[in-house]
Amino acid sequence: MENRGSFATKIGVILATAGSAVGLGNIWRFPYMTGQNGGAAFIAVYFVCILLLGIPGVIAEFVIGRHSGTNAARAYRNLSLKGPWGLIGYMGVFTSMIILGFYAVIAGWCLQYLFASLTAKINGDVVYVQQYFKEFSSNPIEPTCWTICFILLTHFVVVRGVRNGIEKASNILMPTLFVLLVIIVIASCSLPNASKGIEFLFQVDWSKLSSSVIFDALGQAFFSLSLGTACLCTYASYFNRQTNLVKSAVVIALIDSFIAILAGLMIFPAAFSIGVNPDSGPSLIFITLPNVFYQVFSGVPVLGNIISVLFYFLLSLAALTSTISMHEIGTAFFYEELKIPRKQGACIETAVCMVIGILCSLSFGANQFLTEFIANKSFLDCCDYLTSNILLPLGSFFTCIFLGWFVSKKIVKDEFTNWGTLKSTFYGIWIFTVRFICPVLIALIFLRQLGIIKI
Ligand code: PFF
Repeated sequence: MENRGSFATKIGVILATAGSAVGLGNIWRFPYMTGQNGGAAFIAVYFVCILLLGIPGVIAEFVIGRHSGTNAARAYRNLSLKGPWGLIGYMGVFTSMIILGFYAVIAGWCLQYLFASLTAKINGDVVYVQQYFKEFSSNPIEPTCWTICFILLTHFVVVRGVRNGIEKASNILMPTLFVLLVIIVIASCSLPNASKGIEFLFQVDWSKLSSSVIFDALGQAFFSLSLGTACLCTYASYFNRQTNLVKSAVVIALIDSFIAILAGLMIFPAAFSIGVNPDSGPSLIFITLPNVFYQVFSGVPVLGNIISVLFYFLLSLAALTSTISMHEIGTAFFYEELKIPRKQGACIETAVCMVIGILCSLSFGANQFLTEFIANKSFLDCCDYLTSNILLPLGSFFTCIFLGWFVSKKIVKDEFTNWGTLKSTFYGIWIFTVRFICPVLIALIFLRQLGIIKI
């Protein structure tokens, strides 16, 4: 078998893993979820989920991945002498394929907007941009071609391998993304009435809190951290023995949350300023932002165009670092678990995701059946709901049960404590959280959402 490879540098580890976490989840999904769930109250619950469930869950996946140094399915199986625990890995592979399928559709929209900004097609008034979005997204051909393009782009990076492909790409893409985001936040916050958007983001109105807000915040936290798909477990299998798992998990959660807040600061001041409804759903950034670029730079339209090009370029890059990580879960699985050569394994992953991606792309009006797939929700919305709100929390729930109760305590402790002082205290808190707090909280949120219990 070919050498598995590993990340070359410490910063490479952080950037590649943060590159997986930071993506459309932060810049596209977080703002529209916040908008649909009433603003600051959603964000407050989201942070509680990150702190209480997210960080301990990330460390748990890191422990499993680094210890076994192999693909997700075998990683779980190797750590347990008996029991069907390898299925958690299989579930992760399945979940990540569905996510990659619908994620590539939105990433494809970004590519379309990138080219539309290059040809100055999308500058204009609110009504025009809304119309442009509707016509483009319901076209059967164009967005589907962009979806396929994006999956192929991901494919070519992944087949180049971990160090040459994933790590090198992340080292360049992540810092570029951050700088561009800050520039647009400043532009958005300088629009008239921007303060209303800032209030919407930070002034908590607890009357907005409901069980569906909590459920959505939980799903968003898992989606954003790439938690529950065994993605982090797969990446951790490329970490070396010296990587400090705890510090890496905390830094990644901080970067991820910070970028999400920046995305909120980029969208909401602008949405309130131009009068776009904050709860307009998945189209939010595709309708709000072209107007920001147009209005802020109305005196110098070329500048508006340049910023627009940069933004959609940035978003495509952020999406790419995430799709790479999703693709790698399946590719490593086919290669190591099913013994299919890496290149062919990558082709299978690509083909399956393309089929899901095409169906999702046609669910925005091009095909009636897919557009109203279940309870008037589009096929894409159903894939998103199934993965974010159900499969990801379940994946993490089983990971915590597995690691907390069934894996040898010595292995877990050794993996956790390869760093400085205070480690024993932290270990005690973390393992308690993984054994009790995470599974109980996830179970309660699930039972409450299903209407089985009332709290
Ligand atoms: N965390 C990514 C984002 O926020 O865009 C999405 C994601 C990546 C989810 C990888 C799941 C995954 F395995």
